[in-house]
Amino acid sequence: MGSARIVVLGTFVADLSFRGDRLPVMGETVMTDYFRLGPGGKGSNQAIAARRVGAEVTFISRLGRDAFGALARETYRREGISDAWVSEDADSYTGAAFIFVEAASRQNTIVVAPGAVAGLSPADVDRAGEAIRAARVLATNLEVPVPVARRGLELARQAGVATILNPAPAVPLPEDIYLLVDFLTPNEIEASALSGREVCTLDDAEAAADSFLARGVRAVVVTLGEKGALLKDAAGVQHVPAFRAGTVVDTTGAGDAFNGGFAVALAEGRDVRAATRFGCAVAGLSVTREGTAPSMPSRDEVDRLLSG
Ligand code: RIB
Repeated sequence: MGSARIVVLGTFVADLSFRGDRLPVMGETVMTDYFRLGPGGKGSNQAIAARRVGAEVTFISRLGRDAFGALARETYRREGISDAWVSEDADSYTGAAFIFVEAASRQNTIVVAPGAVAGLSPADVDRAGEAIRAARVLATNLEVPVPVARRGLELARQAGVATILNPAPAVPLPEDIYLLVDFLTPNEIEASALSGREVCTLDDAEAAADSFLARGVRAVVVTLGEKGALLKDAAGVQHVPAFRAGTVVDTTGAGDAFNGGFAVALAEGRDVRAATRFGCAVAGLSVTREGTAPSMPSRDEVDRLLSG
């Protein structure tokens, strides 16, 4: 452990996860017997995924000073993640997410209230510049304000640190942000929203990837759920099938598992094809367990799956 240094710029939120047959319609109440409370947030999940597969991880974020913030601190202490650049805003609150997992499909739908992290600014990212410059890879996403993600990408690019933008959730982006991105990792919905063309098939995913490459991204990995991932870069296109690691119980956080694993493999010096396969293996294991951060696998599990 410890050779791959990753910095993740993103959110922690507490995941309030419910599972049931269906969501209520407006004005209706439905009952369920399944509820879990645990650590979540795309950035935090990616940090935990990266840490569990062997990276030295620094997380940049902001919390409120409250019970969910304490859950975050305790999580980083237990996982061995540096939270030196996780600041606090006592006038705000630590974010929370409502997650509904449909019992039959195990697919999910999510509403996020980011809380204190929405107040993070580019100046805060500058203050964490030392951590960014010390990393091999920076990963960020769009649960933080776009100018914040952009500043992280800029600082990393200036220092020669590889950049991953997981454009989740998809929001309108300035055209020139793509020039700062080495690896763009949208899922199908995000690829559709950002490329302006619906992504359903592998051909659609490749067409969307082409549009991002034309905007200046170095490589695009479109994550495709049970279909795996499609990688496109200057060397060509490759479909990486999903790993079947067991019964799928909860797909929430699978994209984060992919991104955390992908970042570590790149930081270890693997090429983007091997890194995509590694990320798919981490995601394939995560969906066999409930929850988001708690579902992230160990390095041994990933290595066994990859060699099996
Ligand atoms: O990607 C899954 C995550 O998205 C959840 O943990 C939830 O908190 C939302 O941020």
